[in-house]
Amino acid sequence: MNITFVEAAAAPSEGVLILAVQSESVFGAITQRYDTASDGALRRVVDSSRFSGKRDETLEAAVTVEGVARAVVLVGLGETDKLDARAWEEIGGALAAHLTTTGNTTAVLAIDTPDDAPVTGGLALAHLALGMRLRGYVYDRYRTIRDDDDPTRLDRLTVVTDDVGGATSAWYDLDAVAGGVELARDLFNQPANDLYPISFVEQIGPLAELGIDIEAHGPDYLAEQGMGAMLAVASGSSHEPRLLILRWSGADDPDAAPLCFIGKGLTFDCGGISIKPAKGMEEMKGDMAGGGAVVGALQALAARNARVNAVGIVGLVENMAGSRAYRPGDVLTSKAGWTIEVFNTDAEGRLVLLDLLAYAVERFEPAAMIDLATLTYDIMAGLGLVYTGMYTTSDELAADLDAASAASGEKLWRMPMDQEYEDNLGSDIADLRQIAEPGDYADAAHAAHLLQRFARGRPWAHLDIAGKELAYDDKPLCPKGGTGVGVRLLDAFARIREDSGDPGR
Ligand code: BES
Ligand code: MN
Ligand code: ZN
Repeated sequence: MNITFVEAAAAPSEGVLILAVQSESVFGAITQRYDTASDGALRRVVDSSRFSGKRDETLEAAVTVEGVARAVVLVGLGETDKLDARAWEEIGGALAAHLTTTGNTTAVLAIDTPDDAPVTGGLALAHLALGMRLRGYVYDRYRTIRDDDDPTRLDRLTVVTDDVGGATSAWYDLDAVAGGVELARDLFNQPANDLYPISFVEQIGPLAELGIDIEAHGPDYLAEQGMGAMLAVASGSSHEPRLLILRWSGADDPDAAPLCFIGKGLTFDCGGISIKPAKGMEEMKGDMAGGGAVVGALQALAARNARVNAVGIVGLVENMAGSRAYRPGDVLTSKAGWTIEVFNTDAEGRLVLLDLLAYAVERFEPAAMIDLATLTYDIMAGLGLVYTGMYTTSDELAADLDAASAASGEKLWRMPMDQEYEDNLGSDIADLRQIAEPGDYADAAHAAHLLQRFARGRPWAHLDIAGKELAYDDKPLCPKGGTGVGVRLLDAFARIREDSGDPGR
């Protein structure tokens, strides 16, 4: 979607015209001007319908403006004092949802942002455009048969504003974030026959053009590094694993300790020898969502030229069953040197992550580490499809992540950490158990406590995003399918650390 911001004089006269109406059918100055230019047609259309300018409501009409027939979409702004950034995004989302069904490919948006709104002017319109872009996402790569009622993409959106400078500069950053979310969604939605560790690395190659340094390492390197847990998970698949490392150095001091974002990148998880039931197994093509979010976030940081040093580390692995696969009962030697007794090969995510954490600590001495993973059904039982579970022992990191959550709209809930959970991870024959005993319950908590050991006391947070990576129905800012959860959160987190001027806090 090509989005430009222009002064009224430069507004194109082609494409569907988008105008706004405030609650109780109040017209702002621009809508009023078009109403006058159409001899009161807009007012008549509104008066003869149920549309009353409630937030996210839309109404389509054909109206003659100064003698020329135009397709018009009216969108409700609702109560003007509630128009914060999120509200503007959702209004954009409602418009995109409407336009994907009408088939319009070009649009001109002329909305005045009410003076009493919490967010106004170019910033408001940039957030509206972000909402349009996110909700207007279409994944149709694999469709060869097209129907007339398939959702369509908006090719070109021209936003009319007297704050072109403000809108354009706000859009520079939001456009970068939107691109990152789209990349994460594209990766998520791609099936595992086409997305596997090596093809994942190939597909993100273009990120180098943004100034991101890309490394990808195979099994020999993993073995040299002693990453026996990650290698064990990979052993059942004919697809070789890859350790993917992305580096963006945007801070004034290129040697400043980086933020490390670590992603679970299971391109498919059948459960291995502890195989999953058939029902719903196809969803496990998306078990790389944490890794997708890390890649999307790095792209966003580079695209908006973030003044921060960030490292993305993704463990790309396929978890399969077969004669070479690892088994329940196996004892693995991890990168940190600690041995781990396996009880269920379907609890593979923590095995990959703990080696990545140990690697990150050793190589990058990060200022903070945040891992993202579709790790457990347990977190879905606790928090459903709404909140991501956050586990951390650092109150400062928790506070910054909560602030990032508020800024990005991605919901987080802090979960408890306690020595008693860690006590459940003792093994009879190895250093650690992979999972607690069934009677201990709280698998998400035990996974977090296992990971915590490998963070070695560095500021670390674990985000269990299971259930949030996939929208089962259309959402205000996301059509059904991959959500790209985590990208906006990590971007907002990096921004907080940028603004504080102290990523090492
Ligand atoms: N990838 C799954 C968890 C998951 C579930 C992600 C639903 C997204 C949506 C993970 O690897 C897994 O299988 N976890 C097991 C662990 C158990 C065997 C201890 C689980 O949660 O059942
Ligand atoms: Mn699993
Ligand atoms: Zn998994």
